[in-house]
Amino acid sequence: FHVDTDPEAVQKGAYAHYMLKEIDEQPGVMRKLVQEYFNEDGTVKIDQALLDDLSQADRLYIVAAGTSYHAGLVGKELFEKLANIPTEVHVASEFAYNPPLLSEKPFFIFLTQSGETADSRQVLTQVNKWGYPSLTITNVPNSTLSREATHTLLLHAGPEIAVASTKAYTAQIALEAILVKAYGEAKNIERAKEFDVAKELTKVANGMQELVDEKGKIEQIAKDLLATTRNAFYIGRGVDYALAQEAALKLKEVSYIQTEGFASGELKHGTIALIEDGTPVVAIITDPKMAAHTRSNAQEVIARGANVLFIASRDLAVAGDQIILPDIDPLLSPLVSVVPTQLLAYYASMQRGYDVDKPRNLAKSVTVE
Ligand code: G6P
Repeated sequence: FHVDTDPEAVQKGAYAHYMLKEIDEQPGVMRKLVQEYFNEDGTVKIDQALLDDLSQADRLYIVAAGTSYHAGLVGKELFEKLANIPTEVHVASEFAYNPPLLSEKPFFIFLTQSGETADSRQVLTQVNKWGYPSLTITNVPNSTLSREATHTLLLHAGPEIAVASTKAYTAQIALEAILVKAYGEAKNIERAKEFDVAKELTKVANGMQELVDEKGKIEQIAKDLLATTRNAFYIGRGVDYALAQEAALKLKEVSYIQTEGFASGELKHGTIALIEDGTPVVAIITDPKMAAHTRSNAQEVIARGANVLFIASRDLAVAGDQIILPDIDPLLSPLVSVVPTQLLAYYASMQRGYDVDKPRNLAKSVTVE
């Protein structure tokens, strides 16, 4: 019931696992996207027909599943903060049977690594019946969702073989940022025009490289924090909350540790009851507006015995923070903050002796409802 790219066709080279290889490929994917989508003069290379349809819309609806849904949560921040367009993000399987009230001129964006996810396809079929314009952002040219949508943008991430998605997540966010830039320019929106996406993505590529070069450190942290625990939490606010949800999914997928990502301010409304002596909590801090609040939430769990790992941007870091992220625009911070969380998941799986590329019960591409 599932489709997998033939792993034999893509070599692991010196890598023991595809997941680690694909994490390492991310700086290259960022550079490739800059190459593919920017002209020499710095303008964005995106079809006018797509920008015309997008410019007509009064609201965007991002529809996706799994990791792609989490990339959509970051996309919402980008579209709303940089380009002032209201954006909703929906889990495809929910939208399919319980669609929200739509605006007058909706535009649909399907985020899908494989382009084959049945839940997303079901929504697209409905959208086509309604006659609304759509865009599929996918890694697979000529995939079903690409063929059936009005427009397609390709992720250019190269084949992703590991079931747990890594480079497709960062490629999706980067491409969303590029699309916001093009849209903002078409609509003459100041904030988007000023946002130098190509330059930021180049900074991101360099920052990712620094992080993947620190693997040994993260391997040790995974050993200390995640080798035997039953549960774990990721916390953050704003885009750090969006990232926390993806980080939690990655860890649970490959290590089978029961993991949740929470809005850090929400912990006290219930989940803090689960904190015991030694419970691992990873706090993500990349937004100056919310840093102090997340730190105070972290103190609340430390007071109840949690073992807190801080992942913070360089300019927000304090003594004792274990993982320091290179400084990039806070709106794009998930592109770098996700890297240590991917590595934590990978090494947690190694510690526990699991098949990291093919976790139990999961398929790379789910083509049944
Ligand atoms: C499956 C995979 C996930 C993926 C999700 C959506 O559940 O195991 O890694 O995020 O499908 O896939 P898509 O190809 O639509 O992005």
